[in-house]
Parts: sequence; structure tokens; C-alpha cells
Amino acid sequence: MDLTLGNKVVLIGTGAVGSSYAYALINQGITDELVLIDANEERVRGDVQDLEHGIVYAPSTLTIKHGDYIDCEDAALVVICAGAAQKSGETRLDLIQKNVAIFEEIVSKVMTSGFNGIIIVATNPVDVLAYATLKYSGLPNHRVISSGTILDSARFRTIIGKEFDTAASSVHAYIIGEHGDSQLPYWSASSLYGQKISSKLSQSRKEEIAEGVKNAAYSIIDSKGATFYGIAMGLARITKAILKNENVVLPIGAYHDGENGVEDVVIGVPCLINRGGIKKVFDLHLEDDEALKFKKSVETLKEIQKEIWN
Ligand code: LAC
Repeated sequence: MDLTLGNKVVLIGTGAVGSSYAYALINQGITDELVLIDANEERVRGDVQDLEHGIVYAPSTLTIKHGDYIDCEDAALVVICAGAAQKSGETRLDLIQKNVAIFEEIVSKVMTSGFNGIIIVATNPVDVLAYATLKYSGLPNHRVISSGTILDSARFRTIIGKEFDTAASSVHAYIIGEHGDSQLPYWSASSLYGQKISSKLSQSRKEEIAEGVKNAAYSIIDSKGATFYGIAMGLARITKAILKNENVVLPIGAYHDGENGVEDVVIGVPCLINRGGIKKVFDLHLEDDEALKFKKSVETLKEIQKEIWN
């Protein structure tokens, strides 16, 4: 396993998602060195000072600074939250052209620094942009991670937890596929106190829950203009799994090279995450209806890849 050194995290893009992620890292004591990069230098200078003033009340100390791409050289992790944000009524896929161009520039600058760590991608459409990051960086497949369905799965577990008056942490459930409209609940592998959740819900209720998860972002964006706290917590969870070498299973977007009968696409499935990045992309035992939806989700992402790179 290729281990990166230290716990240095370089965050590129300190908008709502990026700054919430930085705030989560500090509050959870996940890293001891954080570098913030953003095109809006004035704002990032303010963010660094504002965050730094809270460190005295954080569980552990860390250094935080406004940096540049050269700071990626010895970073363990680069987390990219930069790019145009999804607007009300806009799908994640509508963002694609704008953000692919931004990513080509960002990833080139990261790699020019001599970076040899792991990149986590959070900018939407996150699976396609993680695929772009793989293409532009030349990093091994297991060292580029899309936040994928980490937040969708959290939403799924939260709704189910409320349904059964149980903490979401006791709900073992995954959303898989695209972090987007073609995502699907992995009902057949979802359980609560050792029992299959799908056997406890009517088909109509299952469909309602799936729709609620899929449309959560649209509803939040309509209310407050953007989503950022939930995704920031998901990014912090992935970061912790890597820096603490946890070997934990998380639903993230991973490059598929034959797993689940899929090739040449980044898509969300449960993966084993540790210091080396994605240690294992798990093969799923999907039921027929799930397999059909998963295939459609793969095709959705491949269509976009074809439009951009063929
Ligand atoms: C959402 C954004 C992160 O699902 O895509 O809230």
C-alpha cells in the first residue's frame, strides 16, 4: 500500500462547501495541517483568520494557512471543492462543461507541484469530475475518490432512522450509482437490527423514501440556495478514514475496472477506504431490479463522458 506522509490537507475552493469542510475538519480534530486555496484571495485570507481564531476551542491544534499549489507537493490529501455551484432548478449534470474546464486547470497545477497523494473530489457532477481528475492527473485509480453517494446514503439512513425511531448510525443502508438523478437505494443489502429493512416497508413507502433522498438537494437548494453542511460532514468522514488508516466501508465514487461488470466509469458503491485510498471496490449482489437501475446509472455517466471526451 503506497502510504502518503503526514496529515497535511490542501483544500482547493473555499466556497460554502469548502469552508464548511474546513470547519468540520477543525471541529473534529482530523488533521494537523490545513492549507486553503481559492481564486478569491481576499475571502480565503478572511476564512483562514476566522477559522484560526476558533482553534483554541478545537479538540486538537493544527496549523492553517492561505497557500498556493506548491503546497500540494507534500500533502497527504488534496480536496477539490472549487467550481460553479448548482443553482435552483439546475441538475448536477448541467454544470458539467463549466466545471470540466476548471478541473483541467486545477488538476494540472496540483500535479505540477509534484503531488503524490490522494485527491477527493466534491464538485458536481462529482463522479464525472472525479473521472476527469483521474484523466488529468494520471494518478492510480485508487487514489482519486468521488464523494459519490456518501451524502445520499446519509440522507437515506436519516430518513429510515426516523421511520423506525432509531439512530441513523444503527441503520446499515447504502445509496449506490450516480450522485444524481439516476442513483438507487441498495434495498436488498440494507438492514436494521439484523433484519432486512425492505421487508418492513411497503413498496410505495420505499419509493417515497427513495424519491425523498434523490430530491433532497433540490429541496434544500430551493430553500437556502445551496447545500453544504451535509456534504462537508461526508467529506470529513472520508478524510478521517484515509488519514487514520481506518479500513472502513464507505459509499464513495470509485473508478470501476471490471467490478460489478462495469468498466471505465467512476460511480458510487461501498468501498474499503484506508491510508492508501480505495483499498477495495466491492462487487454488489444486486437483485434484478437494482441491477437494471445500476446499469442505467452507469449508462447515464458514460453518456456524459462520451459527450465530453469522445
Ligand atoms: C447535494 C450536493 C452536494 O446532494 O450534490 O446536496
